[in-house]
Amino acid sequence: MKNYVVIPTYKEAENLRELLPLLKDFNVIIVDDNSNDGTAQICGGFKNVKLIVRKNERGLASAVLSGVKTITDKQAKVVVMDADFQHDPKKLPEFFKSLDEYGFAYGSRKTLKMPFYRKVISKTAESIVKVLIPKIREIDDPMSGYFGFRLDRVNLKGIKPIGYKIMLAFIMNLDKGAKIKKIEYEFGERKFGSSKLSFNVMLDLLRQVLRLNDYRIIIFGLVGLSGVFVNEGVAFLLHAYLPLYIVFIISAETSILTNFILNHNFTFKRRVKLRKALPRYNLVALAGLSINVLIALYLSLFIEYLLANFIGIIVAFAFNYALSEIFAWKNSAI
Ligand code: GDD
Ligand code: MN
Repeated sequence: MKNYVVIPTYKEAENLRELLPLLKDFNVIIVDDNSNDGTAQICGGFKNVKLIVRKNERGLASAVLSGVKTITDKQAKVVVMDADFQHDPKKLPEFFKSLDEYGFAYGSRKTLKMPFYRKVISKTAESIVKVLIPKIREIDDPMSGYFGFRLDRVNLKGIKPIGYKIMLAFIMNLDKGAKIKKIEYEFGERKFGSSKLSFNVMLDLLRQVLRLNDYRIIIFGLVGLSGVFVNEGVAFLLHAYLPLYIVFIISAETSILTNFILNHNFTFKRRVKLRKALPRYNLVALAGLSINVLIALYLSLFIEYLLANFIGIIVAFAFNYALSEIFAWKNSAI
């Protein structure tokens, strides 16, 4: 048998009692964080189920990774799923069949049963994540926890588990040529017990996303800050010799160029050719400048001008960064 199902659990005994009988065709690995709720007794009743109990560690992502690492069969096909029936076990055969051909398969939730405002938050978060991490832009449901892969197509050593969204880390460490398959499924209701999602989990997601972003957004921000000094410096040097409006144009454009050189080399590590990125970035920066000015002018009708300008700066920063990622330094090969 080459088909493995890895399930992280914390206090899921009631769910496991009903789930495990449905998984008789697979090698099941349960990674339990010492729930002490009868999980061990239930698992003991199934020959195809291996239970790993972790006493000193907690966390969904690290549980998944430690379960996967116990698989020695290099030909293995592995599917990761939750124990609470939100991930439809009937889809497992489709996963394993896809993995004959594809290196990776992920479940994409069809209809999300959640209040409208939560949907908006979730979709916004998803878009932000997609801007920050180019590699997952093609994935329809990047926050999914239901996914599978051929063991020989992922570099497990590259995976640093934090938080909940372990699938992101697997995709980042997928072999270059591996094909990815989407499998749609209906996201169910949790059968028993309650979700372990917490505020800390959100913070973990932020940390994880920043890491998978290689901290480019932070470097980009520092570069922007350096541009302010360049801008002011050039204005200071020129102001005695030229009319002010020309001084401001030259100083702004100079800072756009120094920002470009720094971003090209450090933030985006020359991931596209200079002659393509330079005109595009210039365009983005000028558009960003207009956004900044327009927002500041408009808001200053209602609020203090410095605050208005600050909001303009923040919006323009987000705009500049997003367009740098998806336009100026867009590289579909990564
Ligand atoms: N070992 C271990 N340790 N397992 C855990 C831990 C932990 O600290 N926290 C949660 N789990 C297990 C749960 O027992 C369950 O089997 C699974 O991980 C998912 O936990 P839930 O608490 O049900 O998470 P959720 O429903 O909020 O979110 C899940 O579904 C999302 C949508 O697919 C997760 O899988 C998310 O990653 C996923 O995005
Ligand atoms: Mn759940």
